[in-house]
Amino acid sequence: MQVKLGASWSIGPVQVPSRLVLAPMAGVSVQSFRRQGRRFGAGLVCSEMVSCAGLAHGSERSLGYLRLASDESPVAVQIFGSDPAQMARAARMAEEAGADLVDINLGCPVDKVTRTGAGASLLDQPDLACRIVEAVAGAVRIPVTAKMRRGVEEGSRACLDLGPRLAEAGAAALTLHPRSARQMYRGRADHALTAELVERVSVPVIASGDITCRAEAERVLAQTGAAAVMVGRAAQGNPWALREIAGGGNGHPSREEVAAEVVAFVRDTARELGERRAVGFLKKFYGWYLRRPGFPKELTAELVRLPTTGEVVGRILRQAPAAASLAEEIEAGHPRRSGVILPLPVSAYGGG
Ligand SMILES: Cc1cc2nc3c(=O)[nH]c(=O)nc-3n(C[C@H](O)[C@H](O)[C@H](O)COP(=O)(O)O)c2cc1C
Repeated sequence: MQVKLGASWSIGPVQVPSRLVLAPMAGVSVQSFRRQGRRFGAGLVCSEMVSCAGLAHGSERSLGYLRLASDESPVAVQIFGSDPAQMARAARMAEEAGADLVDINLGCPVDKVTRTGAGASLLDQPDLACRIVEAVAGAVRIPVTAKMRRGVEEGSRACLDLGPRLAEAGAAALTLHPRSARQMYRGRADHALTAELVERVSVPVIASGDITCRAEAERVLAQTGAAAVMVGRAAQGNPWALREIAGGGNGHPSREEVAAEVVAFVRDTARELGERRAVGFLKKFYGWYLRRPGFPKELTAELVRLPTTGEVVGRILRQAPAAASLAEEIEAGHPRRSGVILPLPVSAYGGG
């Protein structure tokens, strides 16, 4: 039976208010992105993957990823690594930071990660993957979930054997992005495999890959029997896609709405990362947001050259002056500093 996108569900004791999950994306899923995702209808958001070794060594940047706020909840922190004991310690830190869930990365195909035995390479090491899940589940009170690709090699079906074992080891939900690690982002996500996984496990399965609109989300839910869909690239610079999928809009914002959203996002990100880091981090977002009617083609090129976020905001507001008050309305909904659960050293993080 197909579930409704707006229906609530749960992962263990954690209530998730919709069937739409915002994907973890390295270099994208900062707090401002997750906060925006929740506001636009995502029922669950996730941090980008955090290195358990980085947390063990007290890296400012890794610790910064644990900065969670009250308006994000329910929020998962995703960790990656290959040492069960170190992963268990990292999971405890995520729990202490206020995470509602801890997710284990079993899918990252990037060399730097797989070389260390973490990410997608664990799909070829099922015993170790299960020991990691077991160690993490034994270390925290919050539910533990795992996110997989289909396998390492093209056409692999490793996820189908591994999924049930992970559930047995303590995973309370599984996400599947049914592409192989070799495939990176080529071809299509094969959700026939997601349907097979759903058949094999009794925990909720989240379907990830190539979901860009409500019709596609409904099709994948119907085809697979998954509990929820996860959306990644379609939400980059386009929270309206989330709203359309969640069922609350047509996905076509006005020029003023777009400008206001960018302005609020820029300011929120600068508060989170610190001015210096935010300037570089934000560059990729301008093209994602502003490749739309109503904005001159040269605007993105102009914005990426500006040295401060204040100048970026000023330039965008010159393009769409009426967006200023809309941006203020958005920001009025952000929690004050007291909403931050873990007050990590913001200034040091900003310089990281
Ligand atoms: C820029 C980028 C960064 C990503 N980083 C992560 C990550 O940190 N952890 C993870 O599990 N998946 C990561 N993914 C994979 C996504 O979560 C998702 O599974 C994949 O993009 C397929 O979904 P989509 O077609 O909706 O984008 C990343 C994807 C992209 C595009």
